[in-house]
Amino acid sequence: MPQDDTAIVPMTPDHLDAAVALSVEAGWPHRRADWELVLGLGEGRVALDRAGQVLGTVLFLPFGSTAGAICMVIVSERLRGRGIGRRLFTAAMELAGPRVLRLTASPQGEPLYRSMGFEPQEYIFQRQGVVRAVEAIPGPELARPDDLAQIIALDAAAFGTDRSALLTAIAARGRFAVIRQGDRVRSFAACRTFGRGELIGPAVVSEDADAKALLAFLARECEGRFVRLDLMPGTGLEPWLDQIGLMEVDTALVMWTEAPQLAAGGPRTVVLAAQAVG
Ligand SMILES: CC(C)(COP(=O)(O)OP(=O)(O)OC[C@H]1O[C@@H](n2cnc3c(N)ncnc32)[C@H](O)[C@@H]1OP(=O)(O)O)[C@@H](O)C(=O)NCCC(=O)NCCS
Repeated sequence: MPQDDTAIVPMTPDHLDAAVALSVEAGWPHRRADWELVLGLGEGRVALDRAGQVLGTVLFLPFGSTAGAICMVIVSERLRGRGIGRRLFTAAMELAGPRVLRLTASPQGEPLYRSMGFEPQEYIFQRQGVVRAVEAIPGPELARPDDLAQIIALDAAAFGTDRSALLTAIAARGRFAVIRQGDRVRSFAACRTFGRGELIGPAVVSEDADAKALLAFLARECEGRFVRLDLMPGTGLEPWLDQIGLMEVDTALVMWTEAPQLAAGGPRTVVLAAQAVG
């Protein structure tokens, strides 16, 4: 089909069934509810053919007024290599305006993103499986509703930009575990339903040892169920995650147009909120 027959238009909830079909075709686990979460926080574009069939998708998710993420970039397999991906991605960058942007690249998407000014930052590691028996580690407890402001502040320090809308949406759909130091929340992790089962993330810690304790706390609640998490590099948790059944199945490249400068020694992200959003 010539490129001119393809229209790039705003994505609405009416496009979600077709979007789910495209992500299934791409081998991604997203359910309609997972698309709805991200579309509800941002704006999308779809590529349509003359008959109104959805050929491709892209979503832009703002993080405040200065940063954002581009995600769910998919073109129907039979129509790849014809410029539709580039047109969708350009439309998402127009939505983003001057913001600094983050994405997680598959090998298929990486050449396009490099050509649009994104630079590689680090690899993250997709882990998943049915959770085996997990030994409890003392420290974590379930968060209270009034912990959310501290959770949002910790996430902002670790991610480099405010993501309050995302964290609030996750709180409405799942649960947070925290480790306190006096009155203060020192570290946290979240868990919610996603894809084939549960997703653990984000997890942000001020002390290295808190990561395993928080993940164990949430994984124990999911014993015997399918869990996914997207692990940052350098955590040292890999052998333990293998032991509890969360095996590495894929890697992906985090790219930014301009990566935020994070304070040395501050809280750090050990597990992403989701591969799509960072
Ligand atoms: C990534 C994806 C969206 C690209 O869509 P597309 O419509 O094929 O992309 P385009 O035709 O606009 O090509 C854009 C760029 O990608 C690169 N590209 C496209 N097809 C390629 C191929 N077969 N081999 C190498 N590079 C290729 C080229 O750099 C191209 O640049 P050009 O415009 O200078 O030729 C598509 O491959 C896809 O849906 N993949 C599966 C889902 C996925 O991995 N999405 C990315 C998640 S981060």
